Amino acid sequence: MHNYLETGVEIAREAGSLLTTFFERRIGFELKGDYDLVTEADRASEHLAVERLRSHYPHHSILGEEGGLRQSASDYRWYVDPLDGTTNFAHGYPAFNVTLALERAGELICGIVYDPIHQEMFTAERGSGAYLNHRRITVSSVARLEESLLATGFPSRKRHQSVNVHFFHQTSMMTHGIRRSGSAAIDLAYVACGRLEGFWEFGLNPWDVAAGMLLVAEAGGRCSDMKGNRATVDGPHLAADNGLIHEELLRLFGDVFHGVYRFPMPPVTP
Ligand code: IPD
Ligand code: CA
Ligand code: CA
Repeated sequence: MHNYLETGVEIAREAGSLLTTFFERRIGFELKGDYDLVTEADRASEHLAVERLRSHYPHHSILGEEGGLRQSASDYRWYVDPLDGTTNFAHGYPAFNVTLALERAGELICGIVYDPIHQEMFTAERGSGAYLNHRRITVSSVARLEESLLATGFPSRKRHQSVNVHFFHQTSMMTHGIRRSGSAAIDLAYVACGRLEGFWEFGLNPWDVAAGMLLVAEAGGRCSDMKGNRATVDGPHLAADNGLIHEELLRLFGDVFHGVYRFPMPPVTP
């Protein structure tokens, strides 16, 4: 393959170190929606990533969270989340990353998730496996939901429409626990390296999931939507896991979609 991955890694490292300089200064935030935060760091990181990508690949399309789609006629499209985990970042909570992915004719071919705080660079190339700081990674071998650690997230936009609390409750009753890191790309990278057995979320955007989906697939895991259909970067929801718990997780989700709750919520008594 062309040195796309190498270039992406270089850009992610540069953008990641830019993010840490902003992080140390504890900058403020603005609101894009009621609870949807954005900072100067999101914009600066995207500006850097897009400039670098344009200078390397002037004909490629780029879809970035803060700048929208820079469309070209090319088969190649980059997805850029310049700061995934903005809410964490804005509160000084050290869990965020920069993530880039490259698609060719609708197929993901490169994925990068870089966590500058822990200096962890997760990379994947289609057909060549997934890596963490150059070491090959694989999904976990836990085969039962009951012994799994999962992660999910809740949208910043239109959160009053989110039904995820129902899924959160059911899964938390029959697993080792659910984490909510505030950074979907890291959640997916953690599934790829076996720190988590699985992840699901509603309403994510292509820039949140593109790199992580390839990481999970290349690490031996499985992605679909929460009903078992083919996963796409456009959602509307994603379930990604080590493959071994996939069917069991989808059965549980299926019950919730049909209003069948294995564990009713306990009533609140004063
Ligand atoms: C958010 C994070 C979070 C997820 C939200 C995303 P952002 O991305 O990935 O974990 O739950 O749905 O929007 O806004 O920090 O780039
Ligand atoms: Ca994001
Ligand atoms: Ca973002």
